[in-house]
Amino acid sequence: MDNIKLFDKEFEVYLSPAELSQITSDLGKRISTDYEGLNPILIAVLNGAFVFAADLMRAITIQSEITFVKVASYEATSSKGTVEEILGLEKDITGRHIIIVEDIVDTGLTMTELLKNFKEYYPASIEICSLLLKPESLKKPLDVKYVGMEIPPKFVVGYGLDFDGIGRNLPALYQLVTSDLALDNGQEIDHEEN
Ligand code: IMP
Repeated sequence: MDNIKLFDKEFEVYLSPAELSQITSDLGKRISTDYEGLNPILIAVLNGAFVFAADLMRAITIQSEITFVKVASYEATSSKGTVEEILGLEKDITGRHIIIVEDIVDTGLTMTELLKNFKEYYPASIEICSLLLKPESLKKPLDVKYVGMEIPPKFVVGYGLDFDGIGRNLPALYQLVTSDLALDNGQEIDHEEN
């Protein structure tokens, strides 16, 4: 697959649609085994996780439910974000088995905030499933039970993830090419709220 340009930045393919599909299918199988008979609720974090969540949900073969939340006020430039509010939790999660579904865990601040918030409802259990994890960017230790793939701290886009609002529709995952790395590490690369 060819490199692409988004605004003035060049991106190369990092994970093909087939590789993404394999990763999602493997996660779906693990979750199906681990949660058999437990009717878990997936809580997908909008916007970035919507594509992954749709595929993951269909890779899960056991009875399960899905709902969506949005994190308000995540700052544009990567992950210095002060998370303020979690919007849209419509299901009663008390006593339920929760799996938070995220596109990417970068600093981990969003997840830490979500975990703190959801625990106040006393779910039976709570785990995180993230398509991508940037371990080197984590600000403090975070237990992500289901990780599709660990990646270096470079900016990625596609398969639901955006670059300043665009690129979510790309079927592959793209990474900023090396020559643009001076602009990477999240310092000057914008993405929308989650
Ligand atoms: P965290 O709070 O730093 O873990 O940030 C997680 C959120 O930052 C994700 O849900 C994404 O919206 C965004 N993010 C972090 N890294 C990237 C990236 O490389 N591309 C696109 N969005 C990213």
